[in-house]
Amino acid sequence: MQNRYEEAARKAAEKFLKSAKLAADRGIIPYKSENGAWIPSPYDGNSWWTGGFWPGLMWQFYAATKNEAYLTEARRTEKLLTGEFRVFKYLNHDVGFMYLLSCGADYKLTGDEQAKWDTLHAANLLQGRFSPAGYIRAWNGDNQKGFAIIDCMMNLSLLFWASRQTGDPRFEKAARIHADTTLREFLRPDGSVSHIIEFDPETGKRVREHGGQGYCLGSQWSRGQAWGLYGFTLAALNTEESRYLEAAQKIAANFISHIRPDGLTDCDFCQPDTEERLDNIAGAVAACGLLELNKITGKDEYHIAALRLVDGLLDHCCDWSDTRCGLLTHCTASYHDDGAGRHTNITYGDYFLVEALAKLNGTDPMLWR
Ligand code: GLY
Repeated sequence: MQNRYEEAARKAAEKFLKSAKLAADRGIIPYKSENGAWIPSPYDGNSWWTGGFWPGLMWQFYAATKNEAYLTEARRTEKLLTGEFRVFKYLNHDVGFMYLLSCGADYKLTGDEQAKWDTLHAANLLQGRFSPAGYIRAWNGDNQKGFAIIDCMMNLSLLFWASRQTGDPRFEKAARIHADTTLREFLRPDGSVSHIIEFDPETGKRVREHGGQGYCLGSQWSRGQAWGLYGFTLAALNTEESRYLEAAQKIAANFISHIRPDGLTDCDFCQPDTEERLDNIAGAVAACGLLELNKITGKDEYHIAALRLVDGLLDHCCDWSDTRCGLLTHCTASYHDDGAGRHTNITYGDYFLVEALAKLNGTDPMLWR
C-alpha cells in the first residue's frame, strides 16, 4: 500500500501529465494557473526567473516514472529557455533557478551533451555578474548595481556545479565569496535573514538594507527565510564548510519556530496578527531544505518539521481537481501584491512541493547539484 506521500506524488504526476498538454498546446512556459488555464509570465517573457520550474517539474516526474511524455514536455520548454540566451537583456542572477532545473536536469538525467553546454553557458552568465567587490549582482536596473538578494544562495549551486564539471575553480571561488558576504551581511542574530542588501559597487561596503517582498523593512519575508535555509544547506553540501551548515541550522531554527499550528506558512513572520496572508511556496521550499539538513546532520527535528510543513500543504492547500491546472494553492509572490496575485497557484510552489514529496519517497534526482 502507498503511504500518503507516495499517493500524493502519484496523483500529482497524473494531474500534470494531463495539464502539460494544455501548456504544450498553447506553446508557453506556465507561470501560474487561472480559471482552468495555464498562463505565461506577465513579466520579461521567457526570461522571467521562474521559467525553470516547469521543466523542473517535468524532470521530477520523469525521474520518478520514466514516462517519456514528461521528457518531451521538459525539452519543449528547455528550447524556449535556451532561446533567451540570444535575447540576454532580461536575464539576471536567477539563471541558476532557470537553467539548473531545465538544461542541468536534462544533462543529469539523460547525459545530453548540448544540455551540459547550455548549463555551462548559464553558469558563465552568472559568473559574469560576480563583482570582485564581493557579491553577485542580482538585478539589471541602473540603480541596482550594488543590489544582492538572499534568493541568490539558491543560484550559487550552478557555480559549484560548473567548477565540478570543468575543473576550473573560478566559479566555486565566486560562489564562496558571495556566500561569505551573505553570511556576514544578511544573517541576523535571531536567525532571520534580510531580503535585499545594497553594496557600494566600487568598494563592496554595505550601503543599506531594502524592504523587498516582505511586510516592511527589517521584517521576515518567509520565502526569503526559506531561500536562506535551503541555500545555505546547499552551500554546505557543495563545500562541506561548517560555517554554512551552522548558518542553515540557525535559519532553520527560526523558520521552525514560525510554522503555524496548521503547518502552513505566513507570508511574513512579522506580519500583523490581523492579517491572514499565506505563502505556501515558502513552506514547500523550507521542507526541501529541512529534509536535506536532516540528511546532513541526522537530526530528527528537521525531518519532523518538514513533515509538519508537507502535511499542512497536503491537508489544506492541494487542488486535485481535473478542472484546474495547478496543484498548490495559497501561494503569494510578494506581500504587497506585485500583480501575481494573493493566495493563488504559481508553478514554483508546485515544483517545491513535488520536490519535497520526491525526497520523502526516495525518487528525488537532486537537481540542485
Ligand atoms: N526569487 C524571487 C522570489 O522568490 O520571488
